[in-house]
Amino acid sequence: MAARKILIDTDPGIDDAMAIFYALASPELDVVGLTTIFGNSDTETCTVNALRLLEIAGRTDIPVARGALRPLAMDFRGPADFVHGVDGQGDTFLPAPTTQRRANTDAARFIVETVMASPGEITLVPIGPLTNVALAMLLEPRLCDALAEIVLMGGAAFVDGNASPAAEANILNDPEAADIVFGATCSVVMCGLDVTERTLMSTERLNSIGEFDNDRARLLHKILPFYMDFYHRNNGLDGIYIHDSATISYLLAPQHFRTISHPVRVDCGHSFSRGKTLAARSASDHHVPWIGRPATTICTAIDADAVIALELNRLEM
Ligand code: RIB
Ligand code: CA
Repeated sequence: MAARKILIDTDPGIDDAMAIFYALASPELDVVGLTTIFGNSDTETCTVNALRLLEIAGRTDIPVARGALRPLAMDFRGPADFVHGVDGQGDTFLPAPTTQRRANTDAARFIVETVMASPGEITLVPIGPLTNVALAMLLEPRLCDALAEIVLMGGAAFVDGNASPAAEANILNDPEAADIVFGATCSVVMCGLDVTERTLMSTERLNSIGEFDNDRARLLHKILPFYMDFYHRNNGLDGIYIHDSATISYLLAPQHFRTISHPVRVDCGHSFSRGKTLAARSASDHHVPWIGRPATTICTAIDADAVIALELNRLEM
């Protein structure tokens, strides 16, 4: 079977790096491009990180398109340097990549051009704030018809947020964009905190990555300690939550996930619950402002042991 073509929209980011390497090591997937966005760091830093990750993986054939510098309707809330380091890569301050395979267009246009050139073939995998994806939808109204699917990391349907008690970080960084994407007419799969905070990779297993004999694993072994330290101090965890890789696991092994389908709205107000993803759970909830919204496939449960084993297996390859 032909590999599934995916376009990853990302804000690397330590867990983004894991997800990108996981995808690149999976023969079932064909990564046709990376588009970048602010989030864990500013957009330019995330772009440099994306280029470096591809260089380390020996995949400088994959183009990188730099994305929006700010959310649709507000200023950027600022980098998550306390989680991912000032450089977005665990304060490792790695050398700049020498190959600069930047697309000669911005991320939204790159998404439109790539998807429209291969109708029905491209799956979008956003693992950062959804600004670029929303901009691409606004730019090309036929985009959703031409997309195979969107499988995204973001939101918290039936659990608390992580960037605020109400909101998950990717959604809080651009609620207006997220509400556009959850209203899209194509198939949207939401891998949110409902499953990612159930997927704890232990310190022991993370340390095993340091023994894998490839450059991708060696890079992860360098950048992971900062992220592990954050989770230890902040959440008292002996390990880390695996957020962004949930999208890749879903694409490779959807049988390890349980899902339900409900329309999702994002709170775009300017109060405490800004950025909260609200799923209409029952038919009686299907009233304004959910009415007429397409259903999102929401991941609600995960076989964490199975997806962690799969990811480690691929990172070792
Ligand atoms: O909430 C988790 C998300 O926020 C992940 O995408 C992580 O990389 C951060 O951006
Ligand atoms: Ca991310």
